[in-house]
Amino acid sequence: MWWTAMIDGPFLAIETSCDETAAAVINGRDILSSVVASQADIHTRYGGVVPEIAARHHLGTVNVVIAAALEEAGLPMSGMSAFAVTQRPGLIGALLIGVSTAKALAYVHRRPLYCVDHLLGHICASWLAPTLLETPFVSLIASGGHTRLDLVTDLAAPVVLGSTIDDAAGEAIDKGARLLGLGYPGGPALEALAAQGDPSAHAFPIGLGGKRVRDFSFAGVKTSLLYVVRAEPDMSDQRRADIAASYQEAIVGPLAARLLDAAREHRVSAVSMGGGVAANGRLRQLVTEGAARSGLRVAMPPRDLCTDNAAMIGAAAHFTPRVEWPDYLHTDAVPTAPPGGIAV
Ligand code: KG4
Ligand code: ZN
Repeated sequence: MWWTAMIDGPFLAIETSCDETAAAVINGRDILSSVVASQADIHTRYGGVVPEIAARHHLGTVNVVIAAALEEAGLPMSGMSAFAVTQRPGLIGALLIGVSTAKALAYVHRRPLYCVDHLLGHICASWLAPTLLETPFVSLIASGGHTRLDLVTDLAAPVVLGSTIDDAAGEAIDKGARLLGLGYPGGPALEALAAQGDPSAHAFPIGLGGKRVRDFSFAGVKTSLLYVVRAEPDMSDQRRADIAASYQEAIVGPLAARLLDAAREHRVSAVSMGGGVAANGRLRQLVTEGAARSGLRVAMPPRDLCTDNAAMIGAAAHFTPRVEWPDYLHTDAVPTAPPGGIAV
């Protein structure tokens, strides 16, 4: 075992940091229910998430999603032993809806509250995978807002090894997908198009490739794609698929390589992945094959636990300080990640 104090009994977790309204009922490592209402269709016409629209939509959806999560779990609200919510980082208006809702529910039901770091959630998604991953391990978070490597010897206090110096991996994927005429979010569409192309067709610059550092950079590859698209306005369908495959490879290749390098450097025997980009089949393949070659174990959450969800917030709540009733009433949402990485 590598945890000390599990939350006792089933509890409700809420996630509203970006454009997914999510609620889950968790009991230990068991997911009793997990409901995600995505706003992607609403934001797609703007080419990205519009913060004010996201917040308004959370407001209209959060209670419905919570009711659905309780119904799926077959438990009443009064049966929740605690409440957990994403407190940071994220869009402030969006976070506020979840935090206010969780505070109100916890207060009314006289229960404790767990104020969870969203990025710890992405790390802890692996903890919900069928095979329990024991510490120490190196974790890769690759999402729309963050790209980070952490050394995890204690889930309550991951140590940041490196992060992106410009765009997040998911951001570069979404912007690239947009340049190729695909919708928002671009990840799944880019992956589908890339599957029909040749990843070696075009040599995109690899972000900080070759240097043994743990940071990432995706701005260069994105700009390079812009030049290709401008230079070839009438590219054929096959050329477009080749460019998509090459672009995807230039992003997920360094993610896999740096993760595996960091694991070797820190002499750990396992790696984990989380965040929306960890749903990418090519990244999963590169990490799985590379880990097998290096004798590393891999904890890979199923795809629906990679993209934003509340089950991962429930998992992270087990490693988050408990705030007793009613001490959390002054608690607020925080848009930023703390300078050192995870808020604990
Ligand atoms: O973790 P997430 O759901 O939200 C944030 O916390 O940001 O990540 C969303 C990101 C988006 O950029 C989306 O395009 C990307 O994850 N994504 C993917 C795939 N599915 C989602 N990227 C590549 N391949 C996918 N299959
Ligand atoms: Zn996320």
